[in-house]
Amino acid sequence: MIRADRLTRAFGTRVAVDALTFEAQPGEILGLLGPNGAGKTTTLRMLAGIIAPTSGTASVAGIDPGQHLERIHEHIGFLTESPGFYERLSAARNLAYFAAFYPNLDVANAVRASLRTMGLLDRAHDKVGTFSKGMKQKLALARTLLHQPEVLFLDEPTSGLDPEAAKNLRELILQLKGEGRTILLSTHNLSEAEAICDRIGVFQTRLVALDTTEALRDRQFAPQVRVEIRNMTNDLIAAISAEVFVNTASRDLQDPSTLIVSLQDIDRDRPKLVSRLVSLGAEVLQVREDERSLEDVYLSLVREDTP
Ligand SMILES: Nc1ncnc2c1ncn2[C@@H]1O[C@H](COP(=O)(O)OP(=O)(O)O)[C@@H](O)[C@H]1O
Ligand SMILES: [Mg+2]
Repeated sequence: MIRADRLTRAFGTRVAVDALTFEAQPGEILGLLGPNGAGKTTTLRMLAGIIAPTSGTASVAGIDPGQHLERIHEHIGFLTESPGFYERLSAARNLAYFAAFYPNLDVANAVRASLRTMGLLDRAHDKVGTFSKGMKQKLALARTLLHQPEVLFLDEPTSGLDPEAAKNLRELILQLKGEGRTILLSTHNLSEAEAICDRIGVFQTRLVALDTTEALRDRQFAPQVRVEIRNMTNDLIAAISAEVFVNTASRDLQDPSTLIVSLQDIDRDRPKLVSRLVSLGAEVLQVREDERSLEDVYLSLVREDTP
């Protein structure tokens, strides 16, 4: 597992990561979601023992990354933003080269197992230079798995991949989570965070929020439905506003035939709302849920945090 306690890093006078505190558990994918320059890579590098924090402490697989550099590398895998390979060597030769850095590793077995996990075994002897970007990224992930680390740091793992290759890689990452590894993944891609992370830390130098996708949505926005009504009246709006299960009800400014109703519990209250509208004589044409994307949540959180 991973634990960070008030982890802070400054470069000169510029604070890149400010008092970051969180925990991630085995079998969990925790997303660090933030724009470019948010301090995501800096965070991963501190946790991997590549750079030292200015202050604060961390524990990764039970080890302090600042204290035991050698030991930490046996427990973590780090997928960097632009992993490099020897293009003229085969995939297997590349992995064998990196596997040799780990003491006590059966190189041939480790290479084979990693390639198999990433579905690259049939391309083991092809030159990396012939690989697509998606295959190279799978190979990079295979490289992080050579020594079967329990903790994985994945820095923007799907950035630059086409949607198909990105989806493919995400499935492999979910498989690694299923094996019980603790995964900290950085991304600026909201839909990616939503698709595979168990919890998301909205991060911009500071941790703005940390929760499940659903909880982040709920925290920021009460659920809403949009009801299109043929015979809208102010009395109708007033009557609906007065219902106990309704937070607010108001006409859409852009579309006067649409009533926007904020409910306490969408699944429980939506049928009640419709039957109440009908009993009040409303001609209901359409009812639909107002989908708040994680993007809405993210933007509203980051805006709130900007002084
Ligand atoms: N080695 C460094 N020296 C000076 N400034 C750095 C260094 N690494 C990162 N920074 C600065 O720290 C901030 C966070 O960078 P980074 O962690 O790379 O963000 P992200 O990965 O979220 O895009 C940026 O302002 C960046 O310029
Ligand atoms: Mg980065």
